[in-house]
Amino acid sequence: MCGIIGYVGGKSAAPILLDGLEKLEYRGYDSAGIAVINSNELNVIKTAKRIADLKGITQNGSTTKGNIGIGHTRWATHGAPTETNAHPHISYGGNFAVVHNGIIENYLPLKNELILKGVNFKSETDTEVIAHLLEFNFKGDVFDCIKNTISVLSGSYALGILYLNSPDTLYAVKNFSPLIAGVGVTENFIASDITPLIPHTKDVIYLKDKEIAVITGDSLNIFDLSGKPKSPKIERITGSAESVEKGGYDHFMMKEIKEQPPVILKTATPHIKDGRVVFDGLNLTKEKIKDIKKIVITACGSAYHTGMVAKYVFEQLLKIPVSVDLASEFRYQNPVVDQNTLVIVISQSGETADTLAALNKAKDKGAYTLGIVNVKGSSIAKACHDTLFTGAGSEISVATTKAYSAQLIILYLFAVFMAGHLGTSDEKLRAALLNEIMTLPQKVQEIFMLEENIKALAKKHHTITDAFFIGRNLDYAVALEGALKLKEISYINCLGMAAGELKHGTISLIENGTFVLALAMYEKLNDKMLSNIKEVKARGANVLVVTFKGNNTFLGAADDIIYLPKTHPLLTPSLAVIPLQIFAYYIALFRGADIDKPRNLAKSVTVE
Ligand code: F6R
Repeated sequence: MCGIIGYVGGKSAAPILLDGLEKLEYRGYDSAGIAVINSNELNVIKTAKRIADLKGITQNGSTTKGNIGIGHTRWATHGAPTETNAHPHISYGGNFAVVHNGIIENYLPLKNELILKGVNFKSETDTEVIAHLLEFNFKGDVFDCIKNTISVLSGSYALGILYLNSPDTLYAVKNFSPLIAGVGVTENFIASDITPLIPHTKDVIYLKDKEIAVITGDSLNIFDLSGKPKSPKIERITGSAESVEKGGYDHFMMKEIKEQPPVILKTATPHIKDGRVVFDGLNLTKEKIKDIKKIVITACGSAYHTGMVAKYVFEQLLKIPVSVDLASEFRYQNPVVDQNTLVIVISQSGETADTLAALNKAKDKGAYTLGIVNVKGSSIAKACHDTLFTGAGSEISVATTKAYSAQLIILYLFAVFMAGHLGTSDEKLRAALLNEIMTLPQKVQEIFMLEENIKALAKKHHTITDAFFIGRNLDYAVALEGALKLKEISYINCLGMAAGELKHGTISLIENGTFVLALAMYEKLNDKMLSNIKEVKARGANVLVVTFKGNNTFLGAADDIIYLPKTHPLLTPSLAVIPLQIFAYYIALFRGADIDKPRNLAKSVTVE
């Protein structure tokens, strides 16, 4: 994930920026850069390698003079991880330098407009648009030009900005992406999380959306968009080094939940080219794909749940039988797999012992194996014939959130890729799916707007002792994941199940006040779900429905309803899981549970 550091004060900026970037390395990055103003010159040094490389080029910053600068670690979303795409980006007139975290969703029309006005672009990034717009909008006042620039941006951003002719002023503004100002003595800072600030100051201001910070060594002023000064609260950082890496969140889990929009984009973007799915470096040949008669997916826990989603999607698009097996079962069975079977193993860590054993079993039987893995260089990634990496970055919370979402995206893309080769689904459907995948980040962002409602629902239900999550079709797969999230972090006994199975036994557990969460994103089976809800309501259940906006089927039938943006029916798991993650998080919070490190659990399960 990208990181930002900025400095203005009496000291030499470059060494402080470089140390700050090193502190941001834990977020994961693929390129980096700094810009420093010295005697009316903007010096920009970038690398597509490590921070150590920047340190080498600048002799630990000693050759780059100047007391004001910005630095960035980039985690590529728009454009490859090259030196040109690395930040800071410079405006066409050479007057503005910008570092940016987030995604500018409307960058393409803005870019095209600027190109028509004669602006030359050097990079493939969305960020470069911001640098040029600043120059274009500059009419003598930096504040006004920042204000006018952000007024046309849609999406998320945290920006650090330098203006060459204000060599003692650093500017910052944010929207959705976090940005913090560090308050020092005769020096001030900005950063995307607290980690790089810790060695310098413990006094920080969490910037609010669309407030513009104007910062010198001696002053730190924050204004709203009308230019009215704000009186921000200076907060004192307390806690361990680990707690400060949470980027302003109380728990890694919430930080990782909030990272899902960029993670989805980062996972999908490199594989969608000219309306087609491409997996560079994949060894699976067209001939091999044509030989595949059966797909077996094997994994554990949440990764197994993404496999269940994939079964529905693959069978619809590929018309090939798909089975999903728990790796801990598969490894001790005598599975019917052979050289015409594609075995897909899914694992965030790439080290799960059962999944690794299942993979080896599949290989022994001659199957072609494809890993879907988050951690590069992990045992599963190395052992598979082919591996597709999920771009989730490091996930610290034991309960997976962003890695689950990234796995879904790779699985959707793989389904479209295979369907293209096999000709088993029409081109229009494949194109529609790819287009819709690219809208998911924005839709997830919209769901974040429901956080307060979901928190209130969590408050209402946090004392429950049992819960049932029900769904049909893809909603069933999501119900399993939602139930796992809730039970593992809140320690509430929670069962995820196929709604149609209720009447085969479980309904005997429903009594007055029993909590039932019904997923109803799958429109085709709405009526069936309504019947299930009526059945549990008749026995006194308290029902929370998660469905899509505009669906009035459950009005009057449920106690509470969460409405989500609509998407393609095959992609609903990517949206439906988000409120369940947030719900589980707040229930655990209200119960005082150890959210990031639930009892008895480990992040990487390397033992059987
Ligand atoms: C639940 C969770 C686990 C993992 C499972 C597999 O939140 O994180 O269920 O999904 O332990 O781990 P990986 O994906 O590393 O193989």
